Amino acid sequence: MLTSGGDAPGMNAAIRAVARKGLHEGCEVVGIRRGYAGLIAGDLFNLDRGAVADAIHRGGTLLRTARSPEFMTEAGFQRAIAVLREHDVDGLVVIGGDGSLQGAEKLYDSGIMTVGIPGTIDNDIPGTEECLGFDTAVNTAVEAMDRIRDTATSHERTFVIEVMGRNSGQLAVAAGLAAGAESILVPEVPLALEEICARLSRGQQRGKLYSLIVVCEGVGTGFAVGDYVAKCSGLDTRVTVLGHVQRGGTPSARDRMLASQMGAMAVELLQAGRGGVMVGVKLGRVVPMSIAEALSSGSNFRHDLYKLAAILAQ
Ligand code: ADP
Ligand code: F6P
Repeated sequence: MLTSGGDAPGMNAAIRAVARKGLHEGCEVVGIRRGYAGLIAGDLFNLDRGAVADAIHRGGTLLRTARSPEFMTEAGFQRAIAVLREHDVDGLVVIGGDGSLQGAEKLYDSGIMTVGIPGTIDNDIPGTEECLGFDTAVNTAVEAMDRIRDTATSHERTFVIEVMGRNSGQLAVAAGLAAGAESILVPEVPLALEEICARLSRGQQRGKLYSLIVVCEGVGTGFAVGDYVAKCSGLDTRVTVLGHVQRGGTPSARDRMLASQMGAMAVELLQAGRGGVMVGVKLGRVVPMSIAEALSSGSNFRHDLYKLAAILAQ
């Protein structure tokens, strides 16, 4: 198995689950370091029960991760397949985001028995309700926003908080709703900055002395939004970029449970000879689904939560 792309809390719990379930079933379990880059380099090692001990509660990934432009070249891709064949790998588990899963799908199309586990704080894989790491990242962002709210209230300030998510506003919406943010800017929904200023001035008229504005990085920088808001509203405004803090840290119980179930199911799928599938969440349950369909089934953006956040913040 390998982890690839941006790391996500819960990846270690998934690695543990794949290893322990695989060993339980009598398989030989091999870890690949640094994602597709390590695969091309032949950086494989045996995983025994002890190798994944003391990992369930740790953030990051003990297999390390990387982005591999070389894997996107024909030569790099063929080299990756050759390494898997040289090591007699019967099945590959890829834990990562949409790019990593696209790679997994291509390997499957080239004859490698591959199963995916979606792991990304962006939660941007349309076929699954939830990806590993999302719940933890939301909790991290909410905790940070609660702290910011304390100082925002004391100083009667407006805060613009930039969150990760690349081009997906899922993290912004979930964290913004849970933290009670007044406005949430996401790539999926056009929202004019003038409207944010109008909301701020309506808030002022009602006696509201502080505000939290959440900006998904895919919309633009928090600093650009902060500059605009400060000028148009005249309010004392500060900007906080949460950044990679959102990617690290102890995985939540929910992410650990998800990881444990996903890892075990990935092994079961390989044993059943089912490749080209990933383990996703549908109606709250962990189920197998085709990688190709999961990646192409439209957006899983929660417009309902976005609208609710706007109503509750008024
Ligand atoms: P994530 O998996 O978190 O979305 P990336 O999009 O950076 O992260 O993808 C991680 C790696 O997966 C890339 O560095 C590349 O090696 C591989 N990858 C990404 N997109 C593709 C693709 N379309 N085809 C094959 N491999 C890909
Ligand atoms: O895909 C996960 C993610 O954290 C995105 O939210 C963010 O845009 C990107 O990775 C950051 O990547 P890097 O760690 O390379 O700066």
